[in-house]
Amino acid sequence: MCGIVGIVGKEPVAERLVDALRRLEYRGYDSAGVATIHDGVLKRRRAEGKLFNLEKKLASEPLAGNIGIAHTRWATHGIPNETNAHPHFVDGVAVVHNGIIENFSELKDELSADGATFETQTDTEVVAQLLARSRRAGMGRREAMLAMLKQVTGAYALAVIFADDPSTIMAARSGPPLAIGYGRGETYLGSDAIALAPFTNEITYLVDGDWAVIGRDGAFIFDHDGNAVDRPRQITQAAAYMVDKGNHRHFMEKEIYEQPEVISHALAHYVDLGAHTVRTAVSDAIDFASLRGLTISACGTAYLAGLIGKYWFERYARLPVEIDVASEFRYREIPLSTDQAALFISQSGETADTLASLRYCHDAGLKTGAVVNVRESTIARESDAVFPILAGPEIGVASTKAFTCQLTVLASLAIAAGKARGLIHADEERQLVRQLTEMPRLMSGVLNSIEPQIEALSRELSKYKDVLYLGRGTSYPLALEGALKLKEISYIHAEGYAAGELKHGPIALIDENMPVIVIAPHDRFFEKTVSNMQEVAARGGKIIFITDERGAAASKLPTMATITLPNVAEIIAPMVFSLPIQLLAYHTAVFMGTDVDQPRNLAKSVTVE
Ligand code: AGP
Repeated sequence: MCGIVGIVGKEPVAERLVDALRRLEYRGYDSAGVATIHDGVLKRRRAEGKLFNLEKKLASEPLAGNIGIAHTRWATHGIPNETNAHPHFVDGVAVVHNGIIENFSELKDELSADGATFETQTDTEVVAQLLARSRRAGMGRREAMLAMLKQVTGAYALAVIFADDPSTIMAARSGPPLAIGYGRGETYLGSDAIALAPFTNEITYLVDGDWAVIGRDGAFIFDHDGNAVDRPRQITQAAAYMVDKGNHRHFMEKEIYEQPEVISHALAHYVDLGAHTVRTAVSDAIDFASLRGLTISACGTAYLAGLIGKYWFERYARLPVEIDVASEFRYREIPLSTDQAALFISQSGETADTLASLRYCHDAGLKTGAVVNVRESTIARESDAVFPILAGPEIGVASTKAFTCQLTVLASLAIAAGKARGLIHADEERQLVRQLTEMPRLMSGVLNSIEPQIEALSRELSKYKDVLYLGRGTSYPLALEGALKLKEISYIHAEGYAAGELKHGPIALIDENMPVIVIAPHDRFFEKTVSNMQEVAARGGKIIFITDERGAAASKLPTMATITLPNVAEIIAPMVFSLPIQLLAYHTAVFMGTDVDQPRNLAKSVTVE
């Protein structure tokens, strides 16, 4: 996902813009650039690769100017090189863009027929060309902006500066987020509050269809038809966004170790730690008693959290759950009824497919709930109920603490639902909530004990090209998550499977070249999973066994390694057993030398289809 920053300042902006871009690196990118206006002249510096390359250029060729825009590009159209890097320039207009202009090819044809010459392969350049053409036709800046917004279709967060106006940045939003930040005699623009944190904690998020004229004393905001609109200013927890790695090598490692702490924050929000009950505010948000079913829609790791939630809602609340990845859910035309509620799980709260699924359910009249980490996100704003996961900013592209906090919230909701539907009585509620409250202590213990073994095992695992993960019950989505973690940061091919499916195909893959990671707490599925392990061992397969003390004592099968966790209650096993699979992926990636926090081709939040 691209990143956008802008400053209408009272002193030079180039260095501050690049610093702000550094706070957006977590979104993933493959080139970057900055443009300023000085003495009526637009100038820019752009570079392929990491920000370091852009900083080198600026060091040798500094940029003056108290107004500017900057961009980190995650290539969608056009290879990631300097030519395609933003800002794009056309006749005194500079543009940076996050999103996709869906009708760019017909606009490009029309503009080319009109005499325009294009220098890039990107969709974004049509925006600069449209603005330049309108200005050449005598339109003012605002008129040209409004005309362009009526011609383009697709998803966009845009920032524009004009060489003949060194006191204004124009911005527009339809899809990817864009926030205006207010300073003293300066005004800022950024893709999110994290980018703006060093400048201000007073921000306004533009709403889809908004565009804005940003000057040193603030901003004028207009809707798609050009009518002035008023958007609320909010105070963000800017200090919380001043994140750094602490004494960790990567954000991902830091966030793995933050889990006991942030889970305790989530628990305090959803359960009464003294009475061991679920807080009534949880069940007040959605009337679970009247529901005949739930739908859950999400992407990636958030989807896998939802898959675990499905087991819980069906077991504890007897609520049938229809779940699908959002990119499928939004197009399946699922028959929905208003006696269902719809949950959307998203760390960023900006994932395009999940947002589209939310809008589909909203239009069908369902009560919608967002399980999100960013409270001011679009998915949160457009949902009827918001269930914050309180994980704090998650910078590593691979989701870790957000996943276990999502699970904590989903477990609390499932218990609340079961209670509201008369299926969970006081004793069972107290027992389940007490089990949840044991998580921070148990997870701290696991984190303080298994890392040396995991690190040694990861060195072995990094030698393989293919890995299979197996699990049953709630360990099955965990097997899928383990495979996703490993593949997305180490680039080793990995697949997760329901252990009971082994005989239906994957067993053909088993040999000494493909380690099989079996996730099996000593629960009601344990014996069956051990049978699957025997099938693997009988074919020379190498097993990495992730179990608990009871499981380690019960199984005598030879393994490549056995990672033994404490015996834990079934409802918290997915959270506790997440730790070894996260650490295994992390250390394997470190051995592979990949960019752990910003793996290739990946973005932290996918705000385009
Ligand atoms: C998980 O490690 C990935 N970063 C990715 O699958 C992510 O979970 C997915 O893109 C959903 O993002 P969201 O939670 O912000 O909607």
